[in-house]
Amino acid sequence: MNPIEKIELDGVKNIVVVASGKGGVGKSTVSSNLAISLARNGYKTALVDADIFGPSIPRMFGIENAQPEVTHLGDKEVMFPIEKYGVKIMSIGFFIKKNQGLIWRGPMAVNAIMQLFENTLWNDIDYMIIDFPPGTSDIQLTTVQKLNVTGAIIVTTPQEVALNDARKAASMFNNPDLNVPIWGVIENMAWFTPQPHPDEKYYIFGQGGGEMLAKELNTKLLGQIPLVAEVGDAAEKGLSVYNQSNPTVIEAFEKLTETITA
Ligand SMILES: Nc1ncnc2c1ncn2[C@@H]1O[C@H](COP(=O)(O)OP(=O)(O)O)[C@@H](O)[C@H]1O
Ligand SMILES: [Mg+2]
Repeated sequence: MNPIEKIELDGVKNIVVVASGKGGVGKSTVSSNLAISLARNGYKTALVDADIFGPSIPRMFGIENAQPEVTHLGDKEVMFPIEKYGVKIMSIGFFIKKNQGLIWRGPMAVNAIMQLFENTLWNDIDYMIIDFPPGTSDIQLTTVQKLNVTGAIIVTTPQEVALNDARKAASMFNNPDLNVPIWGVIENMAWFTPQPHPDEKYYIFGQGGGEMLAKELNTKLLGQIPLVAEVGDAAEKGLSVYNQSNPTVIEAFEKLTETITA
């Protein structure tokens, strides 16, 4: 791998990427709620939706129709991020029409993402969370090569014990040329508790997958988030886990914020 020139994002102190081997495991749910949790705890927080082929952050924040304002900084055109729940947000979703799938080739997608990072006025950010697309395509690789990424969080569901995809994501971060510390694993949809039986846990997708992955990657299990219908409902309505009633879910995000900022 050739050494690639790093880009400094003005005023951004820490960059945390949220990655997974496959889609639908809860990366965007974790990214959004982690960002909201950080903001609620007093940290200046940004969230970049780098899932160029399936941006879901605008919907999860209820800002599908937001249009970032453009201004000029010298001869450079720059954008203001959209702010919601105290989080400064930028997504490729702001620039494509709903239901319009992107058929860009790798280099175009990478260019678009790099513009989101470089041409946005971030201004004084403690934590920038990046919601990655699943897998290890050009977007993840270039982002990690060009930005000074502070740490990576890997999201998995318990049944993903085949681990193969997650291993690939991890090996990208562990590549000696990139060398991004993997802070740990979040196991999402870890169990289901029926409301009338709050003391029962049903491990419908299996048990121990997150722990196993963390061990194998020589890192920590940062948290387990149960499968809760209200969590999905909140996301549909542009709300966060703080707008639903399951205390375990809220505790998981509070603990994640605490661990990350420690
Ligand atoms: N813990 C959970 N409980 C219930 N629904 C969840 C949970 N985590 C994610 N979901 C839902 O599952 C779907 C996929 O999650 P998402 O965060 O979009 O995954 P990814 O970004 O990895 O593709 C979404 O509809 C989301 O609302
Ligand atoms: Mg997503």
